[in-house]
Amino acid sequence: MTTMRSFPEDFLWGTATAAHQVEGGNTASDLWLMENVPESLFAEPSRDACDHYHLYPNDLALLKALGFAAYRFSIEWARIEPEEGFFSRAALDHYRRMIAACRALDIVPIVTFHHFTAPLWFTRDGGWTERKSVDRFARYCEKAARALGDLTLYACTINEANVPITISAGRMANEQRPWSPPKEFAEIARRCGGDANRWAPYLACDGYAATPQLIAAHRKGYEALKSTGLSCPVGITLALLDMQAEPGGEALRDAAEQVIDGQFLESVRGDDFVGVQTYTRLRFGPKGHVPPAANAERTQMGYEFCPEALEATIRKAARISGCPILVTENGIGTEDDSRRIAFARRALEGVLATLADGVDVRGYLHWSLLDNFEWLEGYRPKFGLVAVDRSTQARKPKPSAWWLGDIARRNALD
Ligand code: BGC
Repeated sequence: MTTMRSFPEDFLWGTATAAHQVEGGNTASDLWLMENVPESLFAEPSRDACDHYHLYPNDLALLKALGFAAYRFSIEWARIEPEEGFFSRAALDHYRRMIAACRALDIVPIVTFHHFTAPLWFTRDGGWTERKSVDRFARYCEKAARALGDLTLYACTINEANVPITISAGRMANEQRPWSPPKEFAEIARRCGGDANRWAPYLACDGYAATPQLIAAHRKGYEALKSTGLSCPVGITLALLDMQAEPGGEALRDAAEQVIDGQFLESVRGDDFVGVQTYTRLRFGPKGHVPPAANAERTQMGYEFCPEALEATIRKAARISGCPILVTENGIGTEDDSRRIAFARRALEGVLATLADGVDVRGYLHWSLLDNFEWLEGYRPKFGLVAVDRSTQARKPKPSAWWLGDIARRNALD
């Protein structure tokens, strides 16, 4: 129980998006091709998405009107470097205008350099499973930071760098055998004109092979950003589950936790912050993963409704990394907006509890500003505070948007 209801004075309140999920027309990216091949694994292609590429001025004005003062978004590597070594001035200018538009509205721009998608040329050449990915990423970071850096106020290198290993470890646990590329994936690679052994997109690569590069790419990206004179805080973001053990499940939980988050949190000690992104919990028993109870409430993603997970992951991230914490994502896929309010309220109670214990939490960025393209699931899951009519691109804030914006404005939870 905490009695503290106000957040620290300079606490950042905002929302988050990612380029591919909202911009539309990301044609030079790996996932664009994967979405559009015959018999794609994606429920539907992203197409125009929310046309945020053109509508960002309206979206930023809406964000501000709702009461938020920070916006996390990603710049798209596939647009900035559509061919290896060619850096598009036009794309960099676009993002420079976007960051400047945030600053003009007094919105803190929090810029992510890699959020799942990559240029097609990078993925065709082995993506993150290749050692050279580290230098390629650092070169892109440096070029982008030279063009945009002086305007950026927070920088995230790689979004959820632990997602490939989380997916691979989950597959291994389900299939009870060593990791192997998903069978259907080799076929997709072939249809994309690639070779299954070389074609390695972020969301379906061998996480065990990719992890050393992802950890090294964050380090080298961090140094590359700083080498340009960038003075803003730089950090990684991680997908963190509250991993709980039932009696007898402790050893399995501890082993999974070390592989999936421990090694990443240890590797970022000394960074300016770590981005915590939490959606649910995961329980372990003596025989492995324990699914949610049959009567447990589930979100549209099938996750157990568990907003309390955020408090646990903030504490875990702070304890292991020693870094200040920025909640860079937290949210729920639901058609029932009242559940979004209930979820965020309970998650924020957890944030208050960590603050009361002296944990250095710098802000809370809700996922997401807009209903957007939820990767393989297409547009079905609704994570947005704001609904989008994709035939007209009209935006309509949901009650949760006004509710959370009001909390942001008052900097306190009632
Ligand atoms: C990702 C987002 C995604 C969200 C909801 C996070 O893992 O960073 O891109 O939309 O979760 O599933």
